Amino acid sequence: MITLTVNGERVTREVEPRRHLIDFLRLDLGLTGSHAGCEHGVCGACTVRLDGEIVRGCLVLAASLDGADVVTIEGLSDSGEVADLQANFVARNAAQCGFCTPGMIMTAADLLAHEREAGRGTPSRAEIREHLSGNYCRCTGYQAIVDAVEDTLKARHPVADLGRGTAPAPRSSEATR
Ligand code: FES
Ligand code: FES
Repeated sequence: MITLTVNGERVTREVEPRRHLIDFLRLDLGLTGSHAGCEHGVCGACTVRLDGEIVRGCLVLAASLDGADVVTIEGLSDSGEVADLQANFVARNAAQCGFCTPGMIMTAADLLAHEREAGRGTPSRAEIREHLSGNYCRCTGYQAIVDAVEDTLKARHPVADLGRGTAPAPRSSEATR
């Protein structure tokens, strides 16, 4: 029996010792936004946020998650955290079949959330590609996906140069971190 928080709600369930998080979410909780692709940790379709960091849902055993905090694409979407990113995916036509999209959004959201940590500055286009490189798109929509993430970064930080000049000073909220 495990008790954890999923998308802000407390959940208690009995789980088989071999049940992976992705199956727990999809089959036990009905949260089918996270997709199961390779189920071997390669494609990133199953990406979810676990205690603030993104993980492969197909590599984590649900039984190990007692007390954990999990956020899936449903929770990320409902909170509005990535509303601008999602709008840019639509505007840039970054979703073709859409199978990879939830994992891409989860991974891009991680970049957006951590973008300027440790004085790295605003990510360049190459860094966006690097951050997304663990997520496979079978429709080969990478160009449009990078465009959508780049547009979101630019809109959130309009004075940022995305690697083509001097990085802006940290925002006041970041200066106190
Ligand atoms: S389904 Fe988990 S990485 Fe592919
Ligand atoms: S949009 Fe089809 S796999 Fe990426």
